[in-house]
Amino acid sequence: MIGAGWVGFIQGNVFADEGRKVSFVDVDQDKLRLLKAGHCPFYEKDLEPMFRRSYESGRLSFTDDLKQAVEQTDGAFICVPTPPQADGDSDLSYVERVVREVAVAAGTREYPLIVKSTIPADRFRDLEKIVKDTPGSQVDLGSNPEFLAEGTAVEDCQLPSRIVIGVRNGGATRGFLEELYEHHRSGGTPFFVMSPEEAIMVKYAANVMLPVKISMANEVALLSEQLGCNARTILNAMGADPRIGPKFLHPGPGYGGDCFPKDTQGYDAMAKRLGITSNLAQAAIRTNARQRWHLFNRLTDYFSRRQETLAGREIAVWGLSFKKDTNDLRHSPAIAFIDQMLDAGGRVTAYDPAAGPEGRKRYADRIAIVDSAMAAVMGAEALVIVTDWKQFVGQDWEEVRKVMKHPVIFDGRSLLNPMRMAALGFDYISIGRPDALGAK
Ligand code: UDX
Repeated sequence: MIGAGWVGFIQGNVFADEGRKVSFVDVDQDKLRLLKAGHCPFYEKDLEPMFRRSYESGRLSFTDDLKQAVEQTDGAFICVPTPPQADGDSDLSYVERVVREVAVAAGTREYPLIVKSTIPADRFRDLEKIVKDTPGSQVDLGSNPEFLAEGTAVEDCQLPSRIVIGVRNGGATRGFLEELYEHHRSGGTPFFVMSPEEAIMVKYAANVMLPVKISMANEVALLSEQLGCNARTILNAMGADPRIGPKFLHPGPGYGGDCFPKDTQGYDAMAKRLGITSNLAQAAIRTNARQRWHLFNRLTDYFSRRQETLAGREIAVWGLSFKKDTNDLRHSPAIAFIDQMLDAGGRVTAYDPAAGPEGRKRYADRIAIVDSAMAAVMGAEALVIVTDWKQFVGQDWEEVRKVMKHPVIFDGRSLLNPMRMAALGFDYISIGRPDALGAK
């Protein structure tokens, strides 16, 4: 696995758990030192015990020596980052360098090299050209996109919804991947073989389609608020249409994470290069940018109706990560909200079940980050729930109301029951549902 980042590390560990020997190649010496000492570098459900098993049985190795790793293995996956550039296009310099180095290292050996990093479909040929320009190289490039969601990534690898491989005819990569995934294929997992460009497009188009779907739900939520309707009622009934389906129709504070923001931009940039305007990717990007202001706007409205501003107000925020079960802050709506609140002069005390340390790194002492949900609401003039952690639901709400200075909840994930919260004495405001005002 070339690149022991989140994708490479998790997929590599799943391969090792299936009994294979896996070599991780990385340029980050600090990470290599940690890995060699047996430290699991990522927070991800079920990962740590799996890593420990393989580490202790000696199936894993870690190195910065790409040449040696290539010589000792039957094939490699490229899992290095493809960060977005200012124009939204992906920076492929890391991928290109790896292809160049592997093409040299493999000499004249037929060697499968599979791109897992997400790259634009029209750039695959550029990578093939690098191989072609390397004298004698028999490297066979393929594509095998990952569909891992944070928090369920190990399970997504072990029980994939589908496996997509992109290969050229007659190369070594097809056989290599078919053998690697044989147990999935014979177990009935849909297995699709296509060209590398098609395989990349499966991933790219899915990562536009899902943000479009979420954006539809968010737009219905905004319309529902104006109509006095409950968006959940509408979306649940819409999702019952099997052509639409209920998943990814939950309104919220906007999608975040590493993939959707990056891939919608990358797809849009690719479409431009191909002479086509991606109306859909652009709509998702715009709708999401607007949605990321919605919670903040709801707070501003609420306080201005009371002839108050946000300046100097004590705001409790539950959730820092971009979604539950991860400590990842990348493009997190919680971070967007906190930044908006700080700009407006508000004072933030935040709690997250996993992302506290990451939050402290980001904000230092600009916000307080505490170690329990209850500590965050002490003396707060509003509670804002931004991340959908399950444990936020079962709090002692009577106690929460008692310790808050003013009992209003802005629930960005509609985790709670409006009537119940109003009956408990809260003003309760959620996205796309009528407000329930119960504060005295
Ligand atoms: C996503 C894809 O699911 C995965 O297949 C791809 O490979 C990488 O990107 P991930 O970013 O880990 O995975 O999270 P996901 O669970 O898909 O959620 C993405 C964002 O959308 C989160 O911010 C989430 O809260 C938000 N979301 C999701 C909604 O706002 N509403 C929904 O209905 C679903």
